[in-house]
Amino acid sequence: MNKKLLSLVLVAALAMSLLAGCGSKEEPKTTTAAAADTTAAAADNETEAPADTTAAAGDETTAAAAGGNTTGETIRVGYAQVGHESDWRTANTKNYQDVFSADNGYELSFVDCDNDNAAQLEAVRGFIQQELDYIVIAPIETAGWDTVLQEAQDAGIPVIIADREIDAPDTLYDAWVGTNTKNEGITAANWLAEYLDGKEANILVIEGSVGASATLGRTEGFNEVAAEHSEWKILDSQSGDFTQAGGQEVMESFIKSYEGQFNVVVCQNDNEAYGAMDAMKAANITYGVDGDVIIISFDATHDGLQYTLDGAINCNVECNPIQAGVVEEVIQAMAAGSDYEKTTLVNDEAFVAPGITSEYATTMTEDILAGRAY
Ligand code: AHR
Repeated sequence: MNKKLLSLVLVAALAMSLLAGCGSKEEPKTTTAAAADTTAAAADNETEAPADTTAAAGDETTAAAAGGNTTGETIRVGYAQVGHESDWRTANTKNYQDVFSADNGYELSFVDCDNDNAAQLEAVRGFIQQELDYIVIAPIETAGWDTVLQEAQDAGIPVIIADREIDAPDTLYDAWVGTNTKNEGITAANWLAEYLDGKEANILVIEGSVGASATLGRTEGFNEVAAEHSEWKILDSQSGDFTQAGGQEVMESFIKSYEGQFNVVVCQNDNEAYGAMDAMKAANITYGVDGDVIIISFDATHDGLQYTLDGAINCNVECNPIQAGVVEEVIQAMAAGSDYEKTTLVNDEAFVAPGITSEYATTMTEDILAGRAY
Protein backbone atom coordinates (compact mmCIF):
# COMPACT_ATOMS: atom_id res chain seq x y z
CA MET A 1 0.00 0.00 0.00
CA ASN A 2 1.49 3.39 -0.96
CA LYS A 3 1.81 6.18 1.62
CA LYS A 4 -1.10 8.25 0.20
CA LEU A 5 -3.48 5.25 0.23
CA LEU A 6 -2.37 4.28 3.74
CA SER A 7 -3.08 7.75 5.11
CA LEU A 8 -6.53 7.75 3.45
CA VAL A 9 -7.34 4.39 5.09
CA LEU A 10 -6.17 5.70 8.50
CA VAL A 11 -8.29 8.86 8.20
CA ALA A 12 -11.34 6.77 7.21
CA ALA A 13 -10.76 4.39 10.15
CA LEU A 14 -10.45 7.32 12.57
CA ALA A 15 -13.63 8.92 11.23
CA MET A 16 -15.54 5.62 11.58
CA SER A 17 -14.37 5.13 15.16
CA LEU A 18 -15.39 8.71 16.06
CA LEU A 19 -18.84 8.18 14.51
CA ALA A 20 -19.26 4.89 16.38
CA GLY A 21 -18.36 6.66 19.65
CA CYS A 22 -20.87 9.44 18.99
CA GLY A 23 -23.82 7.09 18.80
CA SER A 24 -22.84 4.98 21.78
CA LYS A 25 -25.14 4.99 24.79
CA GLU A 26 -23.13 2.48 26.77
CA GLU A 27 -21.39 4.95 29.06
CA PRO A 28 -23.82 7.80 29.54
CA LYS A 29 -22.39 10.94 31.08
CA THR A 30 -23.89 14.02 32.61
CA THR A 31 -24.12 17.15 30.48
CA THR A 32 -22.73 20.32 31.98
CA ALA A 33 -24.14 23.19 29.97
CA ALA A 34 -21.43 25.57 28.84
CA ALA A 35 -22.66 28.81 30.36
CA ALA A 36 -23.16 27.31 33.82
CA ASP A 37 -19.54 27.98 34.42
CA THR A 38 -19.15 27.57 38.15
CA THR A 39 -16.77 25.55 40.24
CA ALA A 40 -19.54 23.88 42.21
CA ALA A 41 -19.87 20.14 41.83
CA ALA A 42 -22.28 18.97 44.50
CA ALA A 43 -25.82 17.65 44.14
CA ASP A 44 -25.44 16.22 40.67
CA ASN A 45 -28.27 14.11 39.30
CA GLU A 46 -27.74 10.97 41.27
CA THR A 47 -31.31 10.01 42.01
CA GLU A 48 -34.15 8.76 39.84
CA ALA A 49 -35.31 10.51 36.71
CA PRO A 50 -38.84 11.97 36.65
CA ALA A 51 -41.28 9.10 36.71
CA ASP A 52 -44.65 10.62 35.90
CA THR A 53 -44.38 11.59 32.28
CA THR A 54 -43.60 9.63 29.18
CA ALA A 55 -40.74 11.87 28.13
CA ALA A 56 -38.88 11.21 31.38
CA ALA A 57 -35.21 12.00 31.25
CA GLY A 58 -33.27 8.79 30.91
CA ASP A 59 -29.72 8.89 29.62
CA GLU A 60 -27.33 11.49 30.84
CA THR A 61 -25.11 12.23 27.91
CA THR A 62 -22.21 14.43 26.95
CA ALA A 63 -23.16 17.26 24.63
CA ALA A 64 -20.93 19.89 23.12
CA ALA A 65 -21.64 23.62 23.24
CA ALA A 66 -23.23 25.28 20.22
CA GLY A 67 -21.10 24.67 17.16
CA GLY A 68 -23.05 26.39 14.38
CA ASN A 69 -24.78 24.92 11.35
CA THR A 70 -22.28 22.95 9.29
CA THR A 71 -24.68 21.70 6.59
CA GLY A 72 -24.02 24.63 4.25
CA GLU A 73 -27.75 25.42 3.99
CA THR A 74 -29.82 27.62 6.29
CA ILE A 75 -31.83 25.49 8.73
CA ARG A 76 -35.26 26.84 9.67
CA VAL A 77 -36.13 26.15 13.31
CA GLY A 78 -39.38 26.99 15.11
CA TYR A 79 -39.28 27.48 18.88
CA ALA A 80 -42.60 27.51 20.74
CA GLN A 81 -41.49 29.09 24.01
CA VAL A 82 -43.57 28.93 27.23
CA GLY A 83 -43.62 32.71 27.74
CA HIS A 84 -41.62 35.34 29.63
CA GLU A 85 -42.74 34.62 33.19
CA SER A 86 -39.33 34.44 34.85
CA ASP A 87 -35.66 35.40 34.70
CA TRP A 88 -35.00 31.75 33.87
CA ARG A 89 -37.26 32.01 30.82
CA THR A 90 -35.56 35.23 29.67
CA ALA A 91 -32.17 33.50 29.88
CA ASN A 92 -33.48 30.47 28.01
CA THR A 93 -34.94 32.64 25.22
CA LYS A 94 -31.69 34.57 24.84
CA ASN A 95 -29.75 31.31 24.69
CA TYR A 96 -31.94 30.07 21.79
CA GLN A 97 -31.65 33.41 19.96
CA ASP A 98 -27.85 33.33 20.35
CA VAL A 99 -27.43 29.72 19.26
CA PHE A 100 -29.97 29.69 16.42
CA SER A 101 -28.82 33.02 14.96
CA ALA A 102 -28.48 33.94 11.29
CA ASP A 103 -24.71 34.17 11.82
CA ASN A 104 -24.72 30.56 12.96
CA GLY A 105 -26.63 29.47 9.83
CA TYR A 106 -30.20 29.35 11.17
CA GLU A 107 -33.51 31.10 10.65
CA LEU A 108 -35.31 31.02 14.02
CA SER A 109 -39.09 31.43 14.18
CA PHE A 110 -39.61 32.30 17.82
CA VAL A 111 -43.08 32.40 19.40
CA ASP A 112 -43.61 33.59 22.98
CA CYS A 113 -46.78 31.69 23.91
CA ASP A 114 -47.42 33.76 27.05
CA ASN A 115 -48.28 30.69 29.13
CA ASP A 116 -51.33 30.00 26.95
CA ASN A 117 -51.76 26.36 25.89
CA ALA A 118 -54.01 27.16 22.93
CA ALA A 119 -51.50 29.74 21.66
CA GLN A 120 -48.72 27.17 21.95
CA LEU A 121 -50.64 24.57 19.91
CA GLU A 122 -51.38 27.28 17.33
CA ALA A 123 -47.67 28.21 17.20
CA VAL A 124 -46.71 24.60 16.49
CA ARG A 125 -49.40 24.32 13.80
CA GLY A 126 -48.01 27.54 12.27
CA PHE A 127 -44.54 25.97 12.14
CA ILE A 128 -46.02 22.92 10.39
CA GLN A 129 -47.82 25.13 7.84
CA GLN A 130 -44.59 27.04 7.17
CA GLU A 131 -42.89 23.67 6.59
CA LEU A 132 -40.00 24.53 8.91
CA ASP A 133 -37.12 22.05 9.08
CA TYR A 134 -37.28 21.41 12.86
CA ILE A 135 -39.73 22.24 15.64
CA VAL A 136 -38.62 22.78 19.24
CA ILE A 137 -41.29 22.96 21.94
CA ALA A 138 -40.89 24.01 25.58
CA PRO A 139 -44.29 22.66 26.67
CA ILE A 140 -46.35 24.82 29.01
CA GLU A 141 -48.24 21.78 30.30
CA THR A 142 -47.57 18.06 30.15
CA ALA A 143 -51.00 17.19 28.71
CA GLY A 144 -52.66 17.60 25.32
CA TRP A 145 -49.83 16.98 22.86
CA ASP A 146 -50.71 13.79 20.96
CA THR A 147 -52.74 15.32 18.10
CA VAL A 148 -50.40 18.15 17.13
CA LEU A 149 -47.33 15.92 17.45
CA GLN A 150 -48.99 13.43 15.12
CA GLU A 151 -49.62 16.32 12.68
CA ALA A 152 -45.91 17.26 12.78
CA GLN A 153 -44.93 13.65 12.27
CA ASP A 154 -47.32 13.30 9.32
CA ALA A 155 -45.73 16.43 7.83
CA GLY A 156 -42.29 14.85 8.26
CA ILE A 157 -40.97 17.58 10.58
CA PRO A 158 -38.75 16.37 13.44
CA VAL A 159 -39.81 17.62 16.89
CA ILE A 160 -37.55 18.18 19.89
CA ILE A 161 -39.23 18.62 23.27
CA ALA A 162 -37.11 20.91 25.45
CA ASP A 163 -36.95 22.13 29.06
CA ARG A 164 -40.16 20.49 30.34
CA GLU A 165 -41.66 17.07 29.83
CA ILE A 166 -44.87 15.90 28.17
CA ASP A 167 -47.29 13.09 28.77
CA ALA A 168 -47.25 11.52 25.30
CA PRO A 169 -45.79 8.39 23.71
CA ASP A 170 -42.14 8.96 22.84
CA THR A 171 -42.81 7.69 19.31
CA LEU A 172 -44.54 11.05 18.67
CA TYR A 173 -41.41 13.15 19.02
CA ASP A 174 -37.79 12.72 18.07
CA ALA A 175 -35.75 13.90 21.05
CA TRP A 176 -36.01 15.44 24.52
CA VAL A 177 -33.55 17.82 26.21
CA GLY A 178 -34.10 19.18 29.73
CA THR A 179 -33.47 18.93 33.44
CA ASN A 180 -34.57 16.39 36.04
CA THR A 181 -37.07 18.43 38.03
CA LYS A 182 -38.05 15.58 40.34
CA ASN A 183 -34.42 15.31 41.31
CA GLU A 184 -34.37 19.07 41.95
CA GLY A 185 -37.22 18.60 44.46
CA ILE A 186 -35.43 15.67 46.10
CA THR A 187 -32.22 17.71 46.43
CA ALA A 188 -34.11 20.60 48.06
CA ALA A 189 -35.76 18.30 50.60
CA ASN A 190 -32.58 16.35 51.32
CA TRP A 191 -30.81 19.64 52.01
CA LEU A 192 -33.62 20.75 54.34
CA ALA A 193 -33.46 17.48 56.30
CA GLU A 194 -29.71 17.85 56.65
CA TYR A 195 -30.03 21.51 57.74
CA LEU A 196 -32.82 20.92 60.26
CA ASP A 197 -31.21 17.77 61.61
CA GLY A 198 -34.43 16.41 63.14
CA LYS A 199 -36.02 19.76 64.08
CA GLU A 200 -39.65 20.45 63.19
CA ALA A 201 -40.59 22.00 59.86
CA ASN A 202 -43.88 23.74 59.16
CA ILE A 203 -43.71 24.25 55.44
CA LEU A 204 -45.51 26.49 52.96
CA VAL A 205 -45.00 25.76 49.27
CA ILE A 206 -45.41 28.30 46.46
CA GLU A 207 -45.72 26.02 43.47
CA GLY A 208 -45.01 26.85 39.83
CA SER A 209 -47.61 26.89 37.05
CA VAL A 210 -50.36 24.29 37.30
CA GLY A 211 -49.82 21.32 34.97
CA ALA A 212 -46.18 22.18 34.16
CA SER A 213 -43.76 19.29 34.54
CA ALA A 214 -41.35 21.59 36.43
CA THR A 215 -44.09 22.02 39.06
CA LEU A 216 -45.10 18.36 39.08
CA GLY A 217 -41.51 17.11 39.28
CA ARG A 218 -40.34 19.46 42.03
CA THR A 219 -43.49 18.78 44.06
CA GLU A 220 -43.23 15.03 43.67
CA GLY A 221 -39.53 14.95 44.54
CA PHE A 222 -39.90 17.21 47.58
CA ASN A 223 -42.97 15.36 48.86
CA GLU A 224 -41.31 11.99 48.48
CA VAL A 225 -38.59 13.00 50.95
CA ALA A 226 -41.04 14.94 53.16
CA ALA A 227 -43.07 11.73 53.60
CA GLU A 228 -40.05 10.22 55.38
CA HIS A 229 -40.06 13.02 57.99
CA SER A 230 -42.85 12.78 60.54
CA GLU A 231 -41.49 16.00 62.11
CA TRP A 232 -42.37 17.91 58.91
CA LYS A 233 -45.80 19.27 58.08
CA ILE A 234 -46.74 20.83 54.75
CA LEU A 235 -49.28 23.44 55.88
CA ASP A 236 -50.32 24.60 52.40
CA SER A 237 -49.31 24.55 48.77
CA GLN A 238 -50.55 27.10 46.16
CA SER A 239 -49.51 28.08 42.64
CA GLY A 240 -47.61 31.36 42.16
CA ASP A 241 -47.43 30.68 38.40
CA PHE A 242 -43.62 31.02 38.37
CA THR A 243 -43.94 34.84 38.59
CA GLN A 244 -42.79 37.41 41.14
CA ALA A 245 -46.30 38.89 41.39
CA GLY A 246 -47.75 35.40 41.89
CA GLY A 247 -45.19 34.59 44.59
CA GLN A 248 -45.98 37.81 46.43
CA GLU A 249 -49.73 37.32 46.20
CA VAL A 250 -49.60 33.72 47.46
CA MET A 251 -47.23 34.67 50.29
CA GLU A 252 -49.48 37.54 51.37
CA SER A 253 -52.41 35.15 51.60
CA PHE A 254 -50.26 32.53 53.41
CA ILE A 255 -49.24 35.20 55.96
CA LYS A 256 -52.91 35.99 56.63
CA SER A 257 -53.70 32.31 57.23
CA TYR A 258 -50.52 31.01 58.88
CA GLU A 259 -48.67 33.92 60.50
CA GLY A 260 -46.48 32.61 63.34
CA GLN A 261 -47.07 28.99 62.31
CA PHE A 262 -44.46 28.43 59.56
CA ASN A 263 -40.68 28.25 59.51
CA VAL A 264 -39.99 27.09 55.93
CA VAL A 265 -41.11 28.57 52.59
CA VAL A 266 -40.39 26.61 49.43
CA CYS A 267 -40.62 28.73 46.26
CA GLN A 268 -40.51 26.71 43.06
CA ASN A 269 -38.56 29.40 41.23
CA ASP A 270 -36.44 32.47 41.97
CA ASN A 271 -39.04 35.02 40.86
CA GLU A 272 -41.59 33.59 43.27
CA ALA A 273 -38.94 33.82 45.99
CA TYR A 274 -38.45 37.55 45.27
CA GLY A 275 -42.21 38.09 45.63
CA ALA A 276 -42.38 35.98 48.81
CA MET A 277 -39.49 37.94 50.36
CA ASP A 278 -41.25 41.24 49.56
CA ALA A 279 -44.42 39.96 51.25
CA MET A 280 -42.53 38.78 54.36
CA LYS A 281 -40.54 42.01 54.57
CA ALA A 282 -43.79 44.00 54.50
CA ALA A 283 -45.15 41.82 57.32
CA ASN A 284 -41.92 42.16 59.37
CA ILE A 285 -41.17 38.44 59.10
CA THR A 286 -37.46 37.71 59.04
CA TYR A 287 -36.06 35.10 56.67
CA GLY A 288 -32.80 33.60 55.43
CA VAL A 289 -29.81 32.45 57.46
CA ASP A 290 -30.32 35.07 60.18
CA GLY A 291 -34.12 34.99 60.12
CA ASP A 292 -37.04 32.98 61.43
CA VAL A 293 -38.04 31.48 58.08
CA ILE A 294 -35.89 29.24 55.90
CA ILE A 295 -36.26 30.00 52.18
CA ILE A 296 -35.67 27.38 49.52
CA SER A 297 -35.74 28.46 45.88
CA PHE A 298 -35.22 26.85 42.48
CA ASP A 299 -33.50 28.04 39.28
CA ALA A 300 -30.28 29.57 40.69
CA THR A 301 -30.31 32.44 38.22
CA HIS A 302 -27.85 35.28 38.82
CA ASP A 303 -30.12 37.35 41.06
CA GLY A 304 -31.31 34.26 42.93
CA LEU A 305 -27.70 33.35 43.63
CA GLN A 306 -26.98 36.94 44.71
CA TYR A 307 -29.75 36.55 47.34
CA THR A 308 -28.23 33.19 48.30
CA LEU A 309 -24.77 34.75 48.65
CA ASP A 310 -26.35 37.49 50.78
CA GLY A 311 -27.95 34.86 53.03
CA ALA A 312 -31.55 35.84 52.20
CA ILE A 313 -32.21 32.56 50.39
CA ASN A 314 -30.88 29.58 52.35
CA CYS A 315 -30.74 27.05 49.53
CA ASN A 316 -31.16 27.52 45.77
CA VAL A 317 -31.46 24.44 43.54
CA GLU A 318 -30.42 25.05 39.97
CA CYS A 319 -32.52 24.46 36.88
CA ASN A 320 -30.15 25.16 34.02
CA PRO A 321 -31.71 27.31 31.23
CA ILE A 322 -28.71 27.00 28.91
CA GLN A 323 -30.01 24.17 26.74
CA ALA A 324 -30.01 25.46 23.15
CA GLY A 325 -26.47 24.22 22.41
CA VAL A 326 -27.57 20.69 23.25
CA VAL A 327 -30.67 21.06 21.07
CA GLU A 328 -28.47 22.35 18.25
CA GLU A 329 -26.21 19.34 18.56
CA VAL A 330 -29.24 17.05 18.20
CA ILE A 331 -30.44 19.00 15.15
CA GLN A 332 -27.00 18.89 13.53
CA ALA A 333 -26.83 15.14 14.09
CA MET A 334 -30.31 14.71 12.58
CA ALA A 335 -29.36 16.87 9.60
CA ALA A 336 -26.23 14.79 9.04
CA GLY A 337 -28.17 11.53 9.39
CA SER A 338 -25.99 10.59 12.38
CA ASP A 339 -27.00 8.95 15.64
CA TYR A 340 -28.25 11.26 18.37
CA GLU A 341 -29.47 10.85 21.92
CA LYS A 342 -33.22 10.47 22.32
CA THR A 343 -33.06 12.05 25.79
CA THR A 344 -30.37 14.41 27.05
CA LEU A 345 -30.35 15.48 30.66
CA VAL A 346 -28.79 18.89 31.35
CA ASN A 347 -27.00 18.84 34.68
CA ASP A 348 -28.14 20.86 37.72
CA GLU A 349 -26.35 21.83 40.92
CA ALA A 350 -27.52 23.30 44.22
CA PHE A 351 -26.13 26.20 46.23
CA VAL A 352 -26.38 27.27 49.88
CA ALA A 353 -25.73 30.52 51.69
CA PRO A 354 -22.30 31.25 53.20
CA GLY A 355 -21.94 29.64 56.61
CA ILE A 356 -23.82 26.51 55.52
CA THR A 357 -21.97 23.39 54.44
CA SER A 358 -23.87 20.58 52.79
CA GLU A 359 -23.51 17.16 51.29
CA TYR A 360 -26.12 18.17 48.70
CA ALA A 361 -25.11 21.70 47.77
CA THR A 362 -22.15 23.99 47.27
CA THR A 363 -21.57 26.97 49.55
CA MET A 364 -21.97 30.21 47.59
CA THR A 365 -18.97 32.39 46.86
CA GLU A 366 -18.34 35.60 44.93
CA ASP A 367 -16.52 33.52 42.29
CA ILE A 368 -19.56 31.33 41.66
CA LEU A 369 -21.74 34.40 41.29
CA ALA A 370 -19.23 36.00 38.91
CA GLY A 371 -19.45 32.92 36.67
CA ARG A 372 -23.25 33.07 36.50
CA ALA A 373 -24.04 35.10 33.40
CA TYR A 374 -27.84 34.73 33.48
O1 AHR B 1 -39.44 24.89 33.20
C1 AHR B 1 -38.50 25.62 33.92
C2 AHR B 1 -39.20 26.55 34.85
O2 AHR B 1 -40.00 27.44 34.13
C3 AHR B 1 -38.29 27.43 35.69
O3 AHR B 1 -38.05 26.94 36.95
C4 AHR B 1 -39.13 28.65 35.83
O4 AHR B 1 -38.45 29.76 36.30
C5 AHR B 1 -39.67 28.76 34.48
O5 AHR B 1 -40.64 29.67 34.33
